Amino acid sequence: MNDALAFDRRHIWHPYTSMTDPLPTYHVVSADGVRIRLADGRELVDGMASWWCAIHGYNHPQLNAAILNQLQKTAHVMFGGLTHEPAIELARALVDMTPSPLQHVFFCDSGSVAVEVAIKMALQFWGAQARPEKHRLLTIRGGYHGDTFGAMSVCDPVTGMHERFRPVLPEHLFVDRPRTRPGEPLHPTDAEQIERTLAEHHTQIAALILEPIVQGAGGMWFYAPEYLSHVHALCHRYDVLLVLDEIATGFGRTGRLFACEHAGVAPDIMCLGKAMTGGYLSQAATLTTSRVAEGISADGGVLMHGPTFMANPLACAVALQSIELLRVGTWQARVTAIESQLREELGQYAGHHAVAEVRTLGAIGVVETHDAVPVAALQQIFVEAGVWIRPFNKLIYLMPPFVIDSDDLHQLTTAIGSALDTL
Ligand SMILES: Cc1ncc(COP(=O)(O)O)c(C=O)c1O
Repeated sequence: MNDALAFDRRHIWHPYTSMTDPLPTYHVVSADGVRIRLADGRELVDGMASWWCAIHGYNHPQLNAAILNQLQKTAHVMFGGLTHEPAIELARALVDMTPSPLQHVFFCDSGSVAVEVAIKMALQFWGAQARPEKHRLLTIRGGYHGDTFGAMSVCDPVTGMHERFRPVLPEHLFVDRPRTRPGEPLHPTDAEQIERTLAEHHTQIAALILEPIVQGAGGMWFYAPEYLSHVHALCHRYDVLLVLDEIATGFGRTGRLFACEHAGVAPDIMCLGKAMTGGYLSQAATLTTSRVAEGISADGGVLMHGPTFMANPLACAVALQSIELLRVGTWQARVTAIESQLREELGQYAGHHAVAEVRTLGAIGVVETHDAVPVAALQQIFVEAGVWIRPFNKLIYLMPPFVIDSDDLHQLTTAIGSALDTL
């Protein structure tokens, strides 16, 4: 192990690892297109899009130029009392491209914070309507919304971190994750469970929060748009705000620009992040309707949030350019091509002895194994095969940059087959 890696191992926490026995890390020196270059000269085809956000690939000339251009003007200014063109233009683009009721934008620094802001919006809204008893949240099991406390409280109570933080986490309401798969008619149990819970508790519920169509880090689970439509109608009937967390699904990943489009529903509050900046910089946004935005201030109050790096100009500039690439590009055709190749090439592992299920949707391919996989060992196998794939629990999955070509995608799916053979 070289000096730099030894220092890294001794002094730097990586996500969800211990300081005493961390998982191995690989030293990256650069990345270009869909290739990540390691310090030892090896090149890896990227199957993760850096946790699903580098949709246009790395070192993209137009994204680089957007940042360099903005850098000549200013890297950052505070957003309290000041504003700037990148933020205004990005907000305009977001308002234009998301469902029309969403008219107001709050910028913040990460997806988790966007979820915290969404929760605050919902709680402040009901507080300002003199309905402070509406302070609970309802969600579905198997969700993941981030690692801050409010977000953690609506993550799956088993695979999330509830056990560890139980004494300080607010207790919210959970129903089972929908069993209705895409393409299936709404399962009566799914429909009844959510309806019963809302009927019983709606006077206390501020908002229902979920990831539309695809549950990401909570289990890579896909469910039917019909469930989302049902939930949307129920929220309306029971006067509960609907928060859609599109942080993982937004900006094309599921084959639609936003996953809520599969069901044709508009939420009261929407969280965006990850791919918003094309994976270049950390910036997220929480959007809401005029009803909620005006309602929050019905008692003269203001939305109580204001992070230091809110609407960072570099992040806004690169996000605008990323959206422009989506607007003029062929992302939808690319995602469709990725989807059919994933379906065909990962589908052949469905009968493998280690595999419980294979599922694909948009530019997402998931191989669920019977048992939890040895992450470090598989990571090494993947790196030796010239690919970057990072499994977790029982899930080996691909969410590549949209610009990946079929040969590179084939290399990724083949490497998964080789890894499965070692299980
Ligand atoms: C659906 C969803 N919500 C929220 C988050 C949290 O975002 P961040 O890691 O930027 O805080 C994630 C991250 O994986 C996510 O997938």
